[in-house]
Amino acid sequence: MHLCVIPGDGIGREVVPAALDVLRATGLPLEITEAEAGWECFQRTGTALPDTTLAAARAAAAVLFGAVGSPSFPVPGYRSPIVALRKALDLYANIRPVRDHQPPLADHKRTSSSAIDGRSSVVDLVVVRENTEGMYAGRERLEDGGDTAIAERVITRRASARIVRAAFELARARSQAKSHQPKVTIVHKANVLRETCGLFRSTALQVASEYPDIAYEEMLVDNCALQLVQRPAHFDVIVTTNMFGDILSDVASYWGGGLGLAVSANLGEARALFEPVHGSAPDIAGQGIANPLAAIGCVALLLEWLAARPDASKPATLSTAASRIRAATAQIQASGPHTPDMGGNARTADITQAVIAALA
Ligand code: NAI
Ligand code: MG
Repeated sequence: MHLCVIPGDGIGREVVPAALDVLRATGLPLEITEAEAGWECFQRTGTALPDTTLAAARAAAAVLFGAVGSPSFPVPGYRSPIVALRKALDLYANIRPVRDHQPPLADHKRTSSSAIDGRSSVVDLVVVRENTEGMYAGRERLEDGGDTAIAERVITRRASARIVRAAFELARARSQAKSHQPKVTIVHKANVLRETCGLFRSTALQVASEYPDIAYEEMLVDNCALQLVQRPAHFDVIVTTNMFGDILSDVASYWGGGLGLAVSANLGEARALFEPVHGSAPDIAGQGIANPLAAIGCVALLLEWLAARPDASKPATLSTAASRIRAATAQIQASGPHTPDMGGNARTADITQAVIAALA
């Protein structure tokens, strides 16, 4: 199994090695190409995403990515390498699952809603985020001698149709695996963004009509943010445009135990990149206390994706390794040790060792 591994910046360099230790402990045969990207790479080499990194990502069966730290001020020549990588590899579907994990607050609200459409009253949802266009298309410019800044939000029928199709297919697959009634929530702001969200909405409704067996609803993005806080168990699959999905998935991640546990898959037709939802966390980087469970969870997702490939060699071995990692991380989530973000005082290395011990 040939993987390209891009730790990136900050805690990416702490949680990715932890996840690789867990992967190695499964005993699977591995060939790993480590590649660089990010702000530190930009400062050292003048490029945030070297051609060699792009080539390594293309050559591998899958990519494991940590996080990059992008500055919030304009830097000539700098563009977020993860956004560029998603575009270059055409990883159009960002899949961000959230499963219930005893959140520290608002417990009563979460459990007071009764079962909906056969789904349990606990949170088990997926945000499906369009990953190649929208507000993150990178089309920004200054006018008026710098007094006006303009961002172009690009929405195409093609990209909207394929992301909504991915959401409906995922809803169907989830309902078969979990035997509940599938439901897709189409999230937009077409009442204000009449052309861009309007096109996303009309395309989504067209795709929805191809899936008469799957229920769907529309929701305006601001209301969706509130509903994710108030009634998270209401949701099954949420599909939306790039920036809305970015924001809503951070909100949703709360119910899964926070950013330290939130995993994501970036999927294209033939390629995939797996990364924690979190960023480079400069506030805790270098302290050895980052939660590696999101990155470790990404390894499980990666193995499951490889196992499901039509050309997978030894899919059963890959699936077994993924299940072992899932079981081990679930055990650590439930009974510790925990890093400070989960209320404990363990270090990254303690969690890694505990997961490896639980694999056995
Ligand atoms: P962030 O996700 O890095 O951190 C937000 C908060 O969550 C921080 O308090 C951090 O300490 C905590 N946190 C995140 N991951 C954690 C973990 N594994 N264990 C324990 N605590 C964790 O987001 P923030 O602070 O908004 O952005 C920091 C940098 O990361 C920025 O430069 C931003 O551009 C970049 N970023 C990169 C992403 C990527 O590479 N895909 C995604 C999001 C942000
Ligand atoms: Mg984000």
